[in-house]
Amino acid sequence: MPELFSPLTLRSLEIPNRLWMSPMCMYSADDADQRGRPTDFHLSHYASHAFGGAGLVMVEATAVQERGRISPWDLGLWESSQIPGFQRLVAGIRQGGAVPGVQLAHAGRKASADWPGGTGAALSYEQGGWHTIGPSPVAFPGYPAPQEMTAQDISEFIEDFVNAAQRARQAGFDVVEIHAAHGYLLHSFLSPLSNRRSDDYGGDFTGRTRLLREVITAVRGVWPDHLPVMLRISTTDWVAEDPTRQEDSWTVEDSIELARDAYELGVDLIDASSGGLVPAKISPETDYQTSKAARIRSEAQGHVAGVGRISEATVAAELVSSGDVDAVFVARQLLRDISWPNQVAVALGASPRHIPQYGYAVGG
Ligand SMILES: Cc1cc2nc3c(=O)[nH]c(=O)nc-3n(C[C@H](O)[C@H](O)[C@H](O)COP(=O)(O)O)c2cc1C
Repeated sequence: MPELFSPLTLRSLEIPNRLWMSPMCMYSADDADQRGRPTDFHLSHYASHAFGGAGLVMVEATAVQERGRISPWDLGLWESSQIPGFQRLVAGIRQGGAVPGVQLAHAGRKASADWPGGTGAALSYEQGGWHTIGPSPVAFPGYPAPQEMTAQDISEFIEDFVNAAQRARQAGFDVVEIHAAHGYLLHSFLSPLSNRRSDDYGGDFTGRTRLLREVITAVRGVWPDHLPVMLRISTTDWVAEDPTRQEDSWTVEDSIELARDAYELGVDLIDASSGGLVPAKISPETDYQTSKAARIRSEAQGHVAGVGRISEATVAAELVSSGDVDAVFVARQLLRDISWPNQVAVALGASPRHIPQYGYAVGG
């Protein structure tokens, strides 16, 4: 079985290790004109995490449409003037020896919000908020109901997703991740809790997964053949696991079936997260998500990354060496300790990231 600090090759891309930085919104885009552009903060932040030893640095949820931002401070790739700022991030991440990736997203019915460090609440129009869109006019609790997307909205959304992927490549990213988790637009099409459509994009499993399958096909069509496409999903809405709830929801079994389709359409790795569509009770177990990732890997037979509550070297190492997952994404532990991947490498007897200028530290 591979080790945490062995490389992983997806298509022709070699990722130097399997401990990766999970996408994390920083809500720090240039707030003078709120055009979704990266700032010096983002450059320092992402480059530092690359120096810290993460094999892949996944840049935070980046909006494919202006109205797809979670908050006015999100990053975006909905217009070409945004590309140069991302080119700088890519250069910084490469300087630190990591592979640069970017997560492309649309917040759907959870857009137009204050950032969590603020109130996290929906923004009114007076506060700079905007109309949101979704599969059906079903509100996320506490937010206004979104406008039901028309057939034209759907085709524009797919086109904008593809254009953003092309801009991501122009910026130099090697990996693109499609964000279909956490209750945002693509997840809200998957789940019967938020998708009440009666057209081709709703109804049964095939209808509810259609939009995501079309987005995967379209993105794969423009992303270079030699480079990987990743897909983040919520493996469950945490409703089916609650014996007090009877509603139809998105389940682990649905995720396994979707994963099989996704691999066939050219997705190279499933990033298995969970929840976010509706308020729900989430299991307190440490393996609350990684156990579901392991099921996808064994039952759908493709590459999978696990994520969630990973903050110990031995846990990260065991997840990979046991064959449960191919790699781990880590979020909060990297905010606590920016060089955690290097510390883990040393603890496991592997080599930390080699930065020639840091060679003075070797040999005491
Ligand atoms: C500050 C913060 C921002 C986040 N932003 C994103 C995001 O942009 N996209 C995403 O898919 N997940 C996002 N997440 C979720 C993380 O990527 C990760 O899945 C989650 O925090 C669980 O991992 P952890 O226990 O290692 O923190 C965010 C989490 C945090 C703490």
